Amino acid sequence: ALVSMRQLLDHAAEHGYGIPAFNVNNLEQVQAIMEAADQTDSPVIMQASAGARKYAGEGFLKYLIQAAVESYPHIPVVMHQDHGQSPDVCRGAIELGFSSVMMDGSLMADGKTIASYEYNLDVTQQVVAMAHKLGVTVEGELGCLGSLETMKGDKEDGHGAEGTMTREQLLTDPEQAADFVKRSQLDALAIAVGTSHGAYKFTRKPTGDILSVQRIKEIHARLPNTHLVMHGSSSVPQELLAEIREFGGDMKETYGVPVEELQEAIKFGVRKVNIDTDIRLAMTGAIRRFLAENPGKFDPREYLKPAREAAKKICLARYEQFGTAGHA
Ligand code: G3H
Ligand code: 13P
Ligand code: ZN
Repeated sequence: ALVSMRQLLDHAAEHGYGIPAFNVNNLEQVQAIMEAADQTDSPVIMQASAGARKYAGEGFLKYLIQAAVESYPHIPVVMHQDHGQSPDVCRGAIELGFSSVMMDGSLMADGKTIASYEYNLDVTQQVVAMAHKLGVTVEGELGCLGSLETMKGDKEDGHGAEGTMTREQLLTDPEQAADFVKRSQLDALAIAVGTSHGAYKFTRKPTGDILSVQRIKEIHARLPNTHLVMHGSSSVPQELLAEIREFGGDMKETYGVPVEELQEAIKFGVRKVNIDTDIRLAMTGAIRRFLAENPGKFDPREYLKPAREAAKKICLARYEQFGTAGHA
């Protein structure tokens, strides 16, 4: 059934587990997530970005997720809007039937100018007022995602801050977070702790100087009852990079967020863990392999099937690793 995200996050907090929130853009990704959730008895958070809505179209996303809900009536599913850039965007998603929205007021509506604290609080309050009346969950974001190695925002996917940032902007401040949660009354807070979107997060295996799990602990100590969200949480498995390279792809050396760090974060209040890139890498590796090994094949079903299987493998692994399995 379609459920609110609040319901799932409350349950996750009560039982001390995390829930991967996977981005969806097409049929095969939705199917992969649902098959993995069914197999592991896990609750599901599917999220659609502005890019997803542009690619697939709002109606297609809505009915793909609805089809998932109908096909697996025993699994709770959240339909979440990822990175809403304005209250209007969130309103549109709510009208379309999303059960949860993210108001990302860390950046202005252009998606690249760092917003003031007052602006962020104001737009988040507006969305909470509109959403809570309808039982829709709200995620907000405080702090700007970006790299503590380069001090730059996400560049690859076009929704990161422009220019050089300070350490203060790249790491959510616990005191400010407490004020933000109290005044906005949001349901879940996305924090900045050194992760960034996309495949190119770290140039070396991350340690405390570039990925601050310590900061999560400090925020959790100040806000023990707030559900925390980690964006940019793909692990960028080396074997997937190797597969893509082996079959003609060009991937530079890069590292993601180790699963053990995500597991540590889950012990300290992180309940929603956003993952998109790992599924992209898995599907691309599988498609490259299939086409290289079967140059005569041209039926999309034949290469989308292994791609779907590869995506499912990532989902199965995260449901087990985050302790989500068994909680549907
Ligand atoms: O927020 C980042 C997600 O990976 C979505 O990416 O904006 O390219 O759809 P996208
Ligand atoms: P990744 O790029 O690390 O998968 O992060 C996805 C994300 O945060 C979506 O909002
Ligand atoms: Zn994100």
